[in-house]
Amino acid sequence: MSKLWGGRFNSTTNSDLNKLNCSLPVDSRLFAEDIDGSKAYAKILKEAGVLTPTECNDIQKGLELVRYEWIEKLIKLQDTDEDVHTVNERRLIEIIGNVGEKLHTGRSRNDQVITDMKLWMKKAVSEIKLNLKLCMGAQIEIADLNDEVLMPGYTHLQRAQPIKFSHFILSHAFALHEDCLRLVDYEKRSDILPLGSGALAGNPFNIDRNLLATYLGFTKITQNSMHAVGDRDFIVEFIFILNMIGIHLSRLAEDLILYATKEFNFVRISDEYSTGSSLMPQKRNPDSLELVRGLSGKIFASLSGLMMIIKGTPSTYNKDLQMDKSFVFDGFDYLKSSLNVITGVLKTLKINKECMLNCLSSDMLATDLAYYLVRNGTPFRTAHHTVGQVVAYAETLNTDLEKLNMEDLSKIGDFRSDVRKVFDYNASVEQYDVVGGTSSSSIRKQIEYLKEFLKNF
Ligand code: ARG
Repeated sequence: MSKLWGGRFNSTTNSDLNKLNCSLPVDSRLFAEDIDGSKAYAKILKEAGVLTPTECNDIQKGLELVRYEWIEKLIKLQDTDEDVHTVNERRLIEIIGNVGEKLHTGRSRNDQVITDMKLWMKKAVSEIKLNLKLCMGAQIEIADLNDEVLMPGYTHLQRAQPIKFSHFILSHAFALHEDCLRLVDYEKRSDILPLGSGALAGNPFNIDRNLLATYLGFTKITQNSMHAVGDRDFIVEFIFILNMIGIHLSRLAEDLILYATKEFNFVRISDEYSTGSSLMPQKRNPDSLELVRGLSGKIFASLSGLMMIIKGTPSTYNKDLQMDKSFVFDGFDYLKSSLNVITGVLKTLKINKECMLNCLSSDMLATDLAYYLVRNGTPFRTAHHTVGQVVAYAETLNTDLEKLNMEDLSKIGDFRSDVRKVFDYNASVEQYDVVGGTSSSSIRKQIEYLKEFLKNF
């Protein structure tokens, strides 16, 4: 069997080139989208009078048989098959005969492949949305169940101010919330059908592209065929969103890895998501989270890889673009596994409330001490300086802030006996009652907001 484009060739393709050129191991994943695209294209050819209703009907049935062969793994691939499009067309012609040869009228694999990709990506976005929803659901549940648990909050990984554990875990949910918004935006912006662009010049058979778009579930059509066939921005952008999600998961993974160390001991990762050491019998390693962290790097490799492929290509379609698929499939698969694993880690995570509480120390209330002075009329910058002196003094005595006596404190600043009430971690977090803060009511609002958001997502 010769190639579908073999008419003008006298010799067969070099076998090394054949191997390099064959994208089937990657793009056979698009078999269903390719069939859906072709069925719609046949219908629009019928509308344009290129196919008779009977011919169109034969093609529809033939394509369904090809789909069946893929699903049942009955499809036999041949050395001359280059990609999923050529396989589907070859089988169609073998099954229904010459009528099948009319399907590709006015169409090119150039507009066909991006149509398949767009169809595939609609499903991919839905899947990622669902997985994100489950992951965020697990985060919100942890926040809900532990809404009053206090912990040290960090900046620069140094003790900063007391916060609620729920505030911490919700901060990661809000990062994913941004990704949800990106996906919603992306869905709208990429909802444009390229089919009907032909190889580059357009379609000469008077097809109704808007009607074709409705057949395939798109609301808009591309406006420049040359741009359409060379455009891979929608794939880059999708991988970028996968990347952002991957990075957000990686940062969460890093926090949890740290918090699961014996030194912190704030959380315990379940056995189901830990592994052991072949040498050290006592070890429980957070491999699940390390893999999530590592995979975010691999997703970035997909993004940078695709951008490098695109950057030097001249206008319209070039074969370099065939490589887009492995990048997007890899990125998608890595992110899906990451989301599933991290959701499992979260669902089985044990929270060590006592350990977190025991790690609070009164130096973390130095800001509160400054606010005490501010509330009594001292300008903040002066209050900051005064409390700095108090901290330094406590350090010289090698004691905690809260253990300093009244006499020492009042020598340094305008501290009165009611200063004692500052040394209360609960009261400290409750003062941050602003929207976004760490107080109980603010945390409640954050939880309610996210729950409501997910209901409509
Ligand atoms: N397998 C090709 C790809 O994925 C399909 C388009 C081929 N077009 C062509 N003119 N050779 O990019």
